[in-house]
Amino acid sequence: RLTVKADQPGARISPMLYGLMTEEINHSYDGGLYGELIQNRVFKDDAANPVHWSVDLNGGAAGSIALDANQPIPDTALTTCLRLDVSTAGTGRGVGAANDGYWGIPVKPSTSYRASFYAKADDNFKGPLTLTIESTDGTRVAAQAAAPAPGATWKKYTVTLKTDAAVTEGSQYRFIVSAKGTGAVWLNQISLFPPTFNNRPNGNRIDLMDLQAGMSPTFLRLPGGNYLEGGSIDERFDWKKTLGPIEQRPGHQGPWSYRSTDGLGLLEFLEWCEDLKIEPLLAVYAGYSLDGQHIEPGPALAPFVQDALDEIEYLTGDKNTTWGARRIADGHPKPFPLHYVEIGNEDEFDKSASYDGRYAQFQDAIKAKYPKLQLIATSTVTQRKPDLIDDHFYRTAAEMERDSGHYDNYDRSGPKIFVGEWASQDVSTPWVDADKKGPTPSLSAALGDAAWMIGMERNSDIVLMSCYAPMFVNVNKGARQWAVNLIGYDANASFGSPSYYAQAMFGANKGDVVLPAAVTLADAPVQPAPKGKVGVGTWATQAEFKDIQVTQGAASILPAGDVHWALGPGEWKQDGGVLQQSSNANGTDALLGDAAWTDYTYHVKARKIGGK
Ligand code: AHR
Repeated sequence: RLTVKADQPGARISPMLYGLMTEEINHSYDGGLYGELIQNRVFKDDAANPVHWSVDLNGGAAGSIALDANQPIPDTALTTCLRLDVSTAGTGRGVGAANDGYWGIPVKPSTSYRASFYAKADDNFKGPLTLTIESTDGTRVAAQAAAPAPGATWKKYTVTLKTDAAVTEGSQYRFIVSAKGTGAVWLNQISLFPPTFNNRPNGNRIDLMDLQAGMSPTFLRLPGGNYLEGGSIDERFDWKKTLGPIEQRPGHQGPWSYRSTDGLGLLEFLEWCEDLKIEPLLAVYAGYSLDGQHIEPGPALAPFVQDALDEIEYLTGDKNTTWGARRIADGHPKPFPLHYVEIGNEDEFDKSASYDGRYAQFQDAIKAKYPKLQLIATSTVTQRKPDLIDDHFYRTAAEMERDSGHYDNYDRSGPKIFVGEWASQDVSTPWVDADKKGPTPSLSAALGDAAWMIGMERNSDIVLMSCYAPMFVNVNKGARQWAVNLIGYDANASFGSPSYYAQAMFGANKGDVVLPAAVTLADAPVQPAPKGKVGVGTWATQAEFKDIQVTQGAASILPAGDVHWALGPGEWKQDGGVLQQSSNANGTDALLGDAAWTDYTYHVKARKIGGK
């Protein structure tokens, strides 16, 4: 007789269990979520050459393009511009600067694109400018518009281009700013935006926002990962330099081999949360960067602690506070909700072991001013007790499944848990040769994810929050640095991986309480073991066995209250446990292997002693 008892509610499942993690990796922002279509719009991606730009000579025109560092735009961060020289105007649109976008400029029918740019011209140049979205082979114009002739001083121009209904959708297009009339024209911050989510002028791609909403997230860890720390202290995410009009933002070198425009800056992160109706989990720089540099706790760290306090004030302060007033001036009067602040990222890699002291200094200062904020440490600390610890897990699907009970016997008296990065991965070193792997996980990884999420949900009395990482990948070669990612896209289209759909299912169907289930098989006689073949059905019934001997293949066994152990061919164990899964003769996992799982059986001799 099988009895299942599940009528006593256990712990409440954290309402914030599933969230999102974001960092600039794999062109997650520039060439990803951030709507900007022009790559290298402010000519800082390469100091020597206008990369992603090429000269376009139309209708017999002659001329050239080159970087020019001698024409800064006053009171902006725009220091280097593009000089366009026209020696022969020709019979067409003239000499142009063409941008190839982030692996193409995407075009959709009947769609408006907002172009903007700074321009000025020398006294000789009198002609108009033309803006064109054209197929890369030059045979088809998708949209075109005239822009006024620039004057002698820098001025910003905005022009709308519209495609018609017959245009061919795709990303095989480029964007060209052309000048007709002899002389020199200087251009800077050349920008092109498609329609964005909620029509924000400096906003996000609609399809990628929709995909995130499809996971029913509750928070965004911003910005997480190495991007917060930076390759060096100077290259950290320096939030104050990401505020204001985009012409005020210098941009910075990111840790994943390319520059960030910082067009998606702190306020845009927060508006992203607002658009998805989720709350920010703010990660603050904690004085350690990836090259191993760190700031010693004490007076040297004080400016960084103050920076974190300022950042919290930017999110939550009112008009009477310096940084609350700055947020209001930036266009967002209402404060943002904030309950969780994370101090750093993966500080266990700080070989100086300074994190204990750094964390204590941050905690003391933040709790003194904001006692209700919940603080997250990224590594074990002893000087203070954090509210939560951020645990990261990048493992194979089989490892995730086997360790899905990771938190079952965890110390309930310590800090709560934030699983701030996790993923079942099909490759062991996703950061090596990412271009040759990935870009998104398989169905087998999604099964590992599902097992892991069940474990987190069952332990949600201590696992309060979690987020998969990385979330985004631009699938083009040259665009990605990590091989296993949740959501893939090119310039024009996007898709969710199997792991995305596992997340979406768990996000949409999260329970309110855990119902601990006690399953007993009463009156079951101790019976002789099924001799010979025991198939995957054993996994489903979760029966307990003892006196187990494997005669072919291998079995993984979970003794009560213990970790798994494996039994190889010919091996024998007197003590029993639940047969968890089987392997074929080659040792390949039956449940998580890459061939049809029904192919795999293990052969054991065992005594069945009941069920659970
Ligand atoms: O998500 C990819 C990277 O993995 C993150 O930047 C870092 O925190 C982790 O090591």
